[in-house]
Amino acid sequence: MKRLILLALILNGVWGFAGTTLQETGGINRLLVHASLGQETINPEIYGHFAEHLGHCIYEGFWVGEDSDIPNVRGIRTDVVAALKKLDIPVLRWPGGCFADEYHWQEGIGPREQRPKMVNTHWGMVTETNAFGTHEFLDLCEMLGCEAYIAGNVGSGTPEEMQDWVEYMTFAGDSEMANLRRANGRDKPWIIKYFGIGNENWSCGGSMTPEYYSNLYRRFKTYVRSYSGNEIRKVACGPGGIDHHWTEVVMREIGNRMDALSLHYYVPGTGGSAVEFNEDEWLALMESSLGLEKVLARTREIMDVYDPDGKIALYVDEWGTWWDEEPGSQKSLLYQQNTLRDAVSAGIFLNLFNQNCGRVKMANIAQVNNVLQAMILTDGEKMILTPTYHVFEMYKVHQGATLLPFDLITNAWTRNDEKFPVLNVSASRDENGVVHISLCNLDPQTPAQLECALDGIKATSVTGRVLSAENMNSHNTFDKPDNLQPGQLKNSEIKDGKLMVILPAKSVVVMEVK
Ligand code: AHR
Repeated sequence: MKRLILLALILNGVWGFAGTTLQETGGINRLLVHASLGQETINPEIYGHFAEHLGHCIYEGFWVGEDSDIPNVRGIRTDVVAALKKLDIPVLRWPGGCFADEYHWQEGIGPREQRPKMVNTHWGMVTETNAFGTHEFLDLCEMLGCEAYIAGNVGSGTPEEMQDWVEYMTFAGDSEMANLRRANGRDKPWIIKYFGIGNENWSCGGSMTPEYYSNLYRRFKTYVRSYSGNEIRKVACGPGGIDHHWTEVVMREIGNRMDALSLHYYVPGTGGSAVEFNEDEWLALMESSLGLEKVLARTREIMDVYDPDGKIALYVDEWGTWWDEEPGSQKSLLYQQNTLRDAVSAGIFLNLFNQNCGRVKMANIAQVNNVLQAMILTDGEKMILTPTYHVFEMYKVHQGATLLPFDLITNAWTRNDEKFPVLNVSASRDENGVVHISLCNLDPQTPAQLECALDGIKATSVTGRVLSAENMNSHNTFDKPDNLQPGQLKNSEIKDGKLMVILPAKSVVVMEVK
């Protein structure tokens, strides 16, 4: 033990560790994980997902209907549910997105053949049959074993409609809405833990100013009741990325009336092809993914002013990569491929959410199937898992674990005269005392040599999994579904109590240390 403490002191002294420090390229990267420290829990909901009535996320992705040849349970495809269950999905957000502010929930209940059709005006003007509604969504959540996060309609809805929806879903007693639910086949109320009061109300959710939204929020929020012991957490619409003015105003005006503030952050902000890109475009995505750090820091700063006790959570309830639609797919349905580049970006995001888990209590990648940075792509009865799916599967060990502080000295890379770290890291300790360290090597060319010390525990074994490939744009297709999958990490050993590891170029690694 004394030797370990000494080692920690030496590391601190010699390298002057303080968070992340950049060094000139070519050196050994050094990491010190404070394995016996840590006070904050990484909320499992940070590994949450999002499903919108957009493109083929719901229809085809989840819903195939009871009469489909594709194996299903009550209309929901079994292969997709089985794959997602392996991620231990903690929470699923629905029905939008922009769709939420034009959705009228009463159209999506009752006998399916009698449900009215509507135009999905945000997403391709396609006909929405309302075949998948409240009962189907909450059935799906029960199949997945996850919490439901419902986004309510502020943009084109009414407080009465919102109140009725919550009563319909959660009231155990005798009322018109609860009895309507029973008539539609569900006796027991559902538990609804999270409810969003609108979505992107600065844009598709009504083009509001933050002042106007804040007033509307007060009004709508009043009618989102907690019935029958169901404690509902109310989520206010937050900014898109760097609109800190929005954050400032809503925190000032309604900070004392919300349980959480949302934030949306998509990268890289320029579009482009998901699969055809050069090295500079690889680095551009790394740069914009790392940019989340500053956005979170500034958002936390503003929240700290109005909520110094940290009672209000930050939910990054939409995030991920946004590329041009896949050639040949219908425009505005946001179907895109997903490569190793997206996987490394996801690894960075998740590391940053872990690091900020004191305030970030939920995050929902956009979106779960067939839209943007999806976990799953489907084509008829076929289904493939994307590289981003594998990152979520590898990182699930962090769910519910204690965040560990660390100090890192890493090589740097330069883009447009600015320096960025080659390695991006987070670490946690689970309830059995096992330490997990997730690392991304952002360098598309060069493996990274890492020397890692842990203070507070004596490491006796290290194992690791790695997601990497020869090509930056490596991905899975319906012809080659297993082209890119995690493998065992080679080149890792314990020497003099330290982990000596070589991280392949362009890789995501999760190490388990006992
Ligand atoms: O995820 C796609 C869209 O992105 C959502 O509907 C909207 O909230 C955001 O602009």
